[in-house]
Amino acid sequence: MFISRLSIIVSLNFQIMIGIRKAVTGHAFFEIKCRMRKKKGTRMFDHFNMVASIYDKVIRVYDHKQMCRLLDLPARVRLLDAGGGTGRVSQRLCPLVDQVVICDMSRAMLRQAAMREKLNPVRARAERLPFADETFDRVLTVDALHHFHNQRQALADMVRVLKPGGRLVIEEPDKTRPFVKIVMLLEKLALMRSHFLTSQQIVKWLNGLGMTTYVENDGRFIFWVQGDKSQ
Ligand SMILES: C[S@@+](CC[C@H](N)C(=O)[O-])C[C@H]1O[C@@H](n2cnc3c(N)ncnc32)[C@H](O)[C@@H]1O
Repeated sequence: MFISRLSIIVSLNFQIMIGIRKAVTGHAFFEIKCRMRKKKGTRMFDHFNMVASIYDKVIRVYDHKQMCRLLDLPARVRLLDAGGGTGRVSQRLCPLVDQVVICDMSRAMLRQAAMREKLNPVRARAERLPFADETFDRVLTVDALHHFHNQRQALADMVRVLKPGGRLVIEEPDKTRPFVKIVMLLEKLALMRSHFLTSQQIVKWLNGLGMTTYVENDGRFIFWVQGDKSQ
């Protein structure tokens, strides 16, 4: 899994270097095929727009059984995949639930998701989900929380859209592991604004939102935080 992550990030670094070289040689700085967004006066890459077309080919590994167990699936439920990207994860969950909505802020990632059957892509930030309170029975976020700009706000909004008795599952890289430290460094070099949290920090915030939490890890790179909303 981490080899594939590294190749995505190395590819990003490479593309950024091409951009810098073009700047030095007089070409437009961000001529590379990324979209740029303007936010609070600063110009930013949308890294995921750059890698969307190759993302699924490179990032393949995902523990489906573990995710089904934590989400307590199959079940007749509505599931939200926040920061769900191309639908790599939620596509496999589709046959096990009534409805999957996939929300992401990258247009290119969602375009890939739209090519998959039965995913309902919605472009939105996880910090401001365009759904009514208590809409979903399950909310999921895989490998995305560390990319969210305001993680605390995103957690609060994911809890808001969760029905009473519903469950939130978060999968994140474990930043205490050496491999993950390398990924963190490369993401910094690729100018990604990732901010990795510990499971303890996530648990603290979720507990503050009234959720009952439970943590598991794979003993290597990943941890999962499960949060249950009271009835
Ligand atoms: C590493 S990808 C993971 C995608 C998917 N969950 C998976 O595991 O294949 C992280 C995703 O988070 C999205 N993202 C980043 N910040 C976001 C935000 N504030 N709100 C919603 N999505 C966001 C990115 O566009 C990207 O698709």
